Amino acid sequence: MSSSRRDFFKKLLGTGVVVAGLPPACAPNIDPAPVLDVPMPGEDGIVALVVQRYPDLSREGGAVTLRFPKESGQENLLVMHPTADTYAVLSATCTHVGCPMGFDGKEAVCPCHLSRFALDGTVTHSPATVPLTQYASTYNAGTQVLSINILDGDPNFPAVVRGKLALTFEEFPDLQNTGGMVSGRPRGYGKRIFVFKLEDGTYSAVDSVCPHQRCEVGFDSGLNELLCPCHASTFTKTGTVTQGPATSDLKKFTVTVDANGVVVAIT
Ligand code: FES
Ligand code: FES
Repeated sequence: MSSSRRDFFKKLLGTGVVVAGLPPACAPNIDPAPVLDVPMPGEDGIVALVVQRYPDLSREGGAVTLRFPKESGQENLLVMHPTADTYAVLSATCTHVGCPMGFDGKEAVCPCHLSRFALDGTVTHSPATVPLTQYASTYNAGTQVLSINILDGDPNFPAVVRGKLALTFEEFPDLQNTGGMVSGRPRGYGKRIFVFKLEDGTYSAVDSVCPHQRCEVGFDSGLNELLCPCHASTFTKTGTVTQGPATSDLKKFTVTVDANGVVVAIT
């Protein structure tokens, strides 16, 4: 993050200004999508919604925010219904400074400062610059059940197998370089993780879920730290919080190394 962006956050947070409550003049009437509390799914990671039970979602142009039990660590999801039999699911927290997202019938829109995101999470209007995470979903028009897979991952990243994520040096040569980093969303876990070869030659692996309000952190090469785009918390490459508002560390995973590569124990 540039120093000016960090200064922006410091000024806002230091003065107690509630950013989320300050829509600009002439803002369109976009509200955060209504919240629906849901339990965590079973081991398959599938959240199944009978759409007709939820009028805010069943109408074309509607949307809801799925909120999971706090102790689960699962971020809120914005479920949108843009056209008949078409649904899209994104993370529900704006990557600018963390407001809950709304939907205008075509795109995800942040009520606070009007960032906009396409249905695949791509930023289409600033001030946000970081995309929202897209979640895989399928809709069965016969049963009217929308299935959302919160454990899906990046198609070109290895999956978790029996609780382990194997990253070979052949496939990820950067892991042999001091200061090297690999990140991705492994299928079977569903959240981005970061794996680092540290300056002392050891390895670390940490989760991307910010413990403040569950935004996804990213690696900032200028800071050489992990930075949360929502409220600018920072963390070392071993997950230790170095600047709030987060007050606890990122989740850390156990890493083992052999001649072939790195194995991360995913719990
Ligand atoms: S919090 Fe500022 S645009 Fe979303
Ligand atoms: S969600 Fe607030 S600092 Fe990360």
